[in-house]
Amino acid sequence: MAVDLRFLLTASKRVIDRRPLYAQVIVTDACNLRCSYCDERREQAPLVPLEELKRRLDALDRLGALVYDFLGGEPLLHPDLPALVSCAKSKRGGSNLATVITNGLLLTRANIRALNAAGLDFMQVSVDSVRPSPMSEKSLESALPKLRLLAEEARFKVEIQTVLSKRSAAEYDAFRRELQGLPFSFGFSLQHGPGGRIAAGGPGVIGVLRQYGVFDGVNFYGPHLQEMAASDFSRPWKCLAGLKFLYVNSAGEAQWCAQQRGWRFPLQRLDTRELKGNDRHKPCEAGCAIGCARMVSHALGEPLKTLGASLALARRSLG
Ligand SMILES: C[S@@+](CC[C@H](N)C(=O)[O-])C[C@H]1O[C@@H](n2cnc3c(N)ncnc32)[C@H](O)[C@@H]1O
Repeated sequence: MAVDLRFLLTASKRVIDRRPLYAQVIVTDACNLRCSYCDERREQAPLVPLEELKRRLDALDRLGALVYDFLGGEPLLHPDLPALVSCAKSKRGGSNLATVITNGLLLTRANIRALNAAGLDFMQVSVDSVRPSPMSEKSLESALPKLRLLAEEARFKVEIQTVLSKRSAAEYDAFRRELQGLPFSFGFSLQHGPGGRIAAGGPGVIGVLRQYGVFDGVNFYGPHLQEMAASDFSRPWKCLAGLKFLYVNSAGEAQWCAQQRGWRFPLQRLDTRELKGNDRHKPCEAGCAIGCARMVSHALGEPLKTLGASLALARRSLG
């Protein structure tokens, strides 16, 4: 993933200004899977039309977003995903980053090549277990052929993301052995319940976090997560959702994150004054397990603490 110097300079400005860095954009609430822990899908949901999604990207660009993360539901159900990635990459002289979060089961040689051509930077493939479980259909048994296809074809960076639960933690070493030799990085989310609060912790989860870190080698807030997994929610932090991190739902409203719907505001009317109102502590911070919102909040809110990790990230991206 080649990160542009312009991206790094503008992203550094986001530490001090009042503009967003990172936007999650829902392209459809429909999903091809029915994972029992997930409430971010709707039966028979429509695809958001491409022209409408482009208008949302224009609005996010005006606000100052630099990272566009497309998800759902399942984003690969949307046939215009490559066009959307192209649109995000066409802004700011090509220095924006475009990412997709997917279960990967709908990947084909053709759609990987289309995403290559569109300039996708990063794909997070969600896989939770070696075999399907009552909790999650996202297993290596079904995903491995798609992961091999990605290894052959993808020109973007791929990360395998696992929702940590007692079960996935117990088999995580075996899971990693199955993937040895494939050119991917790895990361975790902690399982959350409604509202985003951590729903699965305990010694197994803590052991995996200690051994592997939250994201390969990058551990912005690892100690927080380990404490939360041990039911200690006392360490303070400040959530920058609604300011630095925006979640744009399928109806075109911005909200803090996938789980918090208390603040919802039409994206097309969002301005820096409204964003500034979100520069405050949120009632849901204690025990929050929403990884993307936390990563952005910790990276921008505690830049000195996370400088080492940020430099390591930048070095890896540039190298
Ligand atoms: C809602 S899914 C949408 C994208 C795509 N369908 C996928 O599976 O990656 C986005 C991410 O949220 C994760 N997720 C969903 N529900 C969760 C929960 N209760 N706790 C932790 N992660 C969850 C999924 O595993 C996935 O990595």
